[in-house]
Amino acid sequence: MGWMTWNMYQANISEELIRRVADRMVEDGFLEAGYNYIFIDDLWQGGRDKYNNIIPDPKKFPSGMKALVDYVHGKGLKLGIYSDAAPLTCGGVTGSLGFEEQDAKTFAAWGIDYLKYDYCHAPADSAVAHQRYAKMAKALTESGRDIVFGVCEWGQLRPELWAHDAGGQQWRTTYDVRDMWKDIVHEGGMGILDIADLTAPLHAYAGPGHWNDMDMLVVGLEGRGGPSSDLGGKGCSYTEYQSQMSLWAMMASPLQMSHNILRTPAEAKRILLNKEIIAIDQDALGQAAREVKRMGDCRVYLRPLSGDRYALAVLNAGDNRTKINLPLSTVGLTGKYNLHDVWAHKSVARKAMKWSGNLQPHETKVFVLGIVK
Ligand code: GLA
Repeated sequence: MGWMTWNMYQANISEELIRRVADRMVEDGFLEAGYNYIFIDDLWQGGRDKYNNIIPDPKKFPSGMKALVDYVHGKGLKLGIYSDAAPLTCGGVTGSLGFEEQDAKTFAAWGIDYLKYDYCHAPADSAVAHQRYAKMAKALTESGRDIVFGVCEWGQLRPELWAHDAGGQQWRTTYDVRDMWKDIVHEGGMGILDIADLTAPLHAYAGPGHWNDMDMLVVGLEGRGGPSSDLGGKGCSYTEYQSQMSLWAMMASPLQMSHNILRTPAEAKRILLNKEIIAIDQDALGQAAREVKRMGDCRVYLRPLSGDRYALAVLNAGDNRTKINLPLSTVGLTGKYNLHDVWAHKSVARKAMKWSGNLQPHETKVFVLGIVK
């Protein structure tokens, strides 16, 4: 869980920004809620020095990365960084191919805690991808520092089949998220619903230490991000943002915020800081939800939780308000359950064998179910 620079700031990053973000994550309660990483994405790099050590852009990071890491660690946060399994990154700056060991040692010496490793300018071949990711994973392990490794290959070469074996703890399941509900134009932009539909079938690959990464949360971006606004990403309603948080949590995705965290809108705070939905995402059992049913435009997801509980989500993917009547036995839940609505923060049914209620267009309701013994 954390906050990533890319969607809002793209190239416009600096040590000053990261320090301000760190301060704000503490002041606004994000750290306390569990968002304990700041992820610096692409375009932090300044090339290599005469010893071939990768260096940060001196204009953006004049005090160097070690000083910035120390500041971020001093706030109780961790710092992530970005590179690519090719000579150049997606943004066209220095990548790590051929310098894996040297770069891993440099990141470790700075005190970096996470590496997002992208796959631009690299061959579309899963064996090559496996080998290039495994090489960096080994270098990170041998660096002497515990650095979480995120595979960013956009789900095209079936990373769910090899990324964990290659040493990755999470892998992106799709192309980049846009700040939109769904891709209407089909030009490669991924909306919230597209990513949920592509990731749901991968539920069995997720588990403790190996997660499906559904890309950044766009909650609160309100159409103001740079890259997230491409291809029709004009912003979402807060009902849609609440659905993104619900679906990402149900599917046990990393929660990587990307809005202007220096000024989080109140509605975005309500969604991002909801402790009950975060608890579902972070549940100790680490099982991702399955899509268990489609009823017209509605999708029903079920996630087993620790302590003999379940999380049940009902999404109205359609454009009209709809009424749902869901006998729990139709999704395999026999017996009687107490239902707690995690967005309304209240108990909505006791000793129930069904849920019925209304859903707004694009709304997701999420319930925690405890069996009545
Ligand atoms: C790719 C990744 C994005 C971002 C950019 C940076 O598109 O998928 O998440 O890291 O590169 O250039």
